[in-house]
Amino acid sequence: MTSKDSARESTEEQFAVRYPARTKSFARRGRPLHSSTQRTWDAHADQYVIEVPRDGGYTTVDSSFQIDLEAEYGRRAPLIIEVGTGNGEQLVSYAAEHPDVNLLGIEVWKQGIAKAISRAVEAGVTNIRFIEVDAAQALPTLLPEACAQEVWTFFPDPWRKARHHKRRLVNDAFANTIARLLKDGGLWRLATDWPNYAWQMRDVVEASPALENIHEGERPDARDPEPDRGGFAPRFEQRVMTRFEQRGLDEGRVAHDIVAKRVPRDDAETPTGTLHGDAEESNRMARGDAEGMTRKIADDHAEETQ
Ligand SMILES: C[S@@+](CC[C@H](N)C(=O)[O-])C[C@H]1O[C@@H](n2cnc3c(N)ncnc32)[C@H](O)[C@@H]1O
Repeated sequence: MTSKDSARESTEEQFAVRYPARTKSFARRGRPLHSSTQRTWDAHADQYVIEVPRDGGYTTVDSSFQIDLEAEYGRRAPLIIEVGTGNGEQLVSYAAEHPDVNLLGIEVWKQGIAKAISRAVEAGVTNIRFIEVDAAQALPTLLPEACAQEVWTFFPDPWRKARHHKRRLVNDAFANTIARLLKDGGLWRLATDWPNYAWQMRDVVEASPALENIHEGERPDARDPEPDRGGFAPRFEQRVMTRFEQRGLDEGRVAHDIVAKRVPRDDAETPTGTLHGDAEESNRMARGDAEGMTRKIADDHAEETQ
């Protein structure tokens, strides 16, 4: 064994001890960009991509690091996070229509981020940032508690085979992560076109003491193992038709939407930090007064935030 081999082996051993193989919700992605997307990246990543200190792999983040959101956006504004932005169809469309909101895309697929940046440049939007990380690994530590008005998880990878269900992103641990990020009264919007993932999302939301399914019991589905149970929301009007949803429709699948609301923290659980680090706002949010903040985002969300 050469000294290079032995150095590599020892690094790999240290890595394996530090990062016991985790179950990932994504498959390995080719990282090198195509020449056209590479040009976009080189020209615009400085403006749109938040670089984070890595802690091992290229999708993991150093758990001691936390983003300063105000510095990254250069302003204070309500924050919406989309987990799994794909090629940015939803995030860029929303950002263009809501310039007063800060949008944050979390995605492991670098090619997708590059495509999303291309869209953002074309649409002339500046209120959007992306981070290339595994949301399940990074979000428990990367952002301050109670920083987000909404989190979106639209059409996460379905992992259809029963033996792969453990790889699905939406599970109890992820629900805790999202509950930590949401302001009191903030919303987690989910959608999937795979029926048994829809039942799973509904079950995860309804099992979480920190979340309330605001459409509990509504729109029951005869295919559900509990056909009278329901728990599904109307389609989020501001959700655009993405390539993934269209493919599902073409194959005869219809999306289910789910909307969970962050239950107000009690005194023992008062948020330790907010987007603005603002004591007055923090106190207001701890009292469950989310409506004022939510109004800032869009009047058309009103039905679900009451
Ligand atoms: C099926 S696509 C849907 C994309 C988009 N939401 C849409 O509706 O068009 C799922 C996306 O989630 C991303 N993804 C999967 N697991 C992830 C994770 N743990 N963290 C961040 N992104 C993830 C994938 O790379 C992929 O782009």
